[in-house]
Amino acid sequence: MAEQKTSSKNNDLKKATLILDKDFSIARVDERLFGSFIEQLGRAVYEGIYDPGNAKSDEHGFRLDVIEKVKKLKVPIVRYPGGNFLSGFNWEDSIGPRENRPARLDLAWFTTETNAFGMHEFCAWANKVDTKVMYAVNMGTRGMDEARSVVEYANHPGGSYWSDLRRKNGAEKPFDIKLWCVGNEMDGPWQIGQKTAYEYGRIANESAKVMKWVDPSIEVVACGSSAYDMPSFGAWELEMLEQCYDNVDYVSLHRYYQNLTDDTPNFLAKSVDMDAFIKTVVSLCDAAGGKRHSKKKLNLSFDEWNVWYHSNEQDKQVKAQNCWGQALHLLEDVYNFEDALLVGSMLITLLRNSDRVKIACLAQLINAIAPIMTSKNGCWAQTIYWPFMHASLYGRGTALRPVVNSPLYSSKDFDDVPLLDATAVQGDDGTLTVFAVNRSSDSDIELTCNLRAFDNLKFDEHIVMHHDDVKAVNTEAAPNTVIPTSAKVCDPANGVFSVKIPALSWNVLRFSDV
Ligand code: AHR
Repeated sequence: MAEQKTSSKNNDLKKATLILDKDFSIARVDERLFGSFIEQLGRAVYEGIYDPGNAKSDEHGFRLDVIEKVKKLKVPIVRYPGGNFLSGFNWEDSIGPRENRPARLDLAWFTTETNAFGMHEFCAWANKVDTKVMYAVNMGTRGMDEARSVVEYANHPGGSYWSDLRRKNGAEKPFDIKLWCVGNEMDGPWQIGQKTAYEYGRIANESAKVMKWVDPSIEVVACGSSAYDMPSFGAWELEMLEQCYDNVDYVSLHRYYQNLTDDTPNFLAKSVDMDAFIKTVVSLCDAAGGKRHSKKKLNLSFDEWNVWYHSNEQDKQVKAQNCWGQALHLLEDVYNFEDALLVGSMLITLLRNSDRVKIACLAQLINAIAPIMTSKNGCWAQTIYWPFMHASLYGRGTALRPVVNSPLYSSKDFDDVPLLDATAVQGDDGTLTVFAVNRSSDSDIELTCNLRAFDNLKFDEHIVMHHDDVKAVNTEAAPNTVIPTSAKVCDPANGVFSVKIPALSWNVLRFSDV
């Protein structure tokens, strides 16, 4: 990393304090909090991870440059194959000899799916990037019969129709997929086969039940509302959980944010909405459990989250001009610096709620609303790649609850928003990491940290990501426009130290035990 740049906009220094104690623990962070998502959509798979014939691909057609970039993120789990695509997908189309796989119209994105890339290819790719598969089953056009068959195909050792077919298709050993989604956004009118909460709750219950009969070691995620602002939000969770509470393990949350009015302070406050969304879904799960006197606690799978809006207009044109095309440039948001700040703040929010959010998937991973973009010639990291990488690398261990005292601000939709958004994680190796976003557009913050319960900490580095232009982006031609920088800072004296957090910046403060 390059040397640390400082903001040129600091005209007003503000002060904040952060007190950390190792006994103030939130939870052990489930590593699946740093998961991601690949949908058979646009160029996520085709030209993204799978690009046969490209000089950068291996003999299986996997892009090696992409594999390298994904591995640096240490993504522990990837949800697949959708998304909206899922609700019209026949998983059986995606297995067996390629020449026999049917091309189908995908009614979710109005493209043609050739099925040249399917379940075996995805599991092989997942092995190469050291990740696990979170596989989703279609509850739109299909149901429990397919759900139990695909679990048998993927996880049963052999001696049955579907498991022997897997072996015949080249995978002697089971894929051993432990985490399954039953459906995707089933409350949404855009979904192929939208359901009422009752209809979905029933089908999810019966599917999860028989999937677990095939393999009792699996965990199942039920579809929560597709967004916090759906009119049926809340009622959906309570009614569908009334039907499936006993057979599912997690409820999903999805949320994408936009800055449509070019209001940066309001945009950066949107993680406050994410926090409220999580806490409300926790309450709904607990209310559903309480009503049935259940001892079981449902946790949360925030399996789609990101910024998504930059590509909306372009997508309308791409779809209009290429109906039923393949590998279209869809959802290709080009992320700017302020998007990275909100993504950082969303990661802080997930860590802060890691007592109940056990799984989260940055949506998505390659080309479609993604941290990694590809062209025929190479790949590059978008701005949002960096905070995600830092959180994934340094956010594992025990999440701590810091006492943060920060100046507040109000924006169009939010009151009393802390200018400094911060949290901390203690690693198992004695390291300590503080993640912080300064939401202020014009004030640096002098942050005084009191690490009173940590003896002998050495300050390793202060990673900062800042750019004077919130709209700055990384492109193929200029991939390093917005990147983090790193600086050495003095060690704490008696557990106390101060550090400058530049206006509009993402920060990672890393300490180790001496
Ligand atoms: O991630 C893009 C889309 O967003 C997914 O297909 C869908 O689940 C959500 O609406």
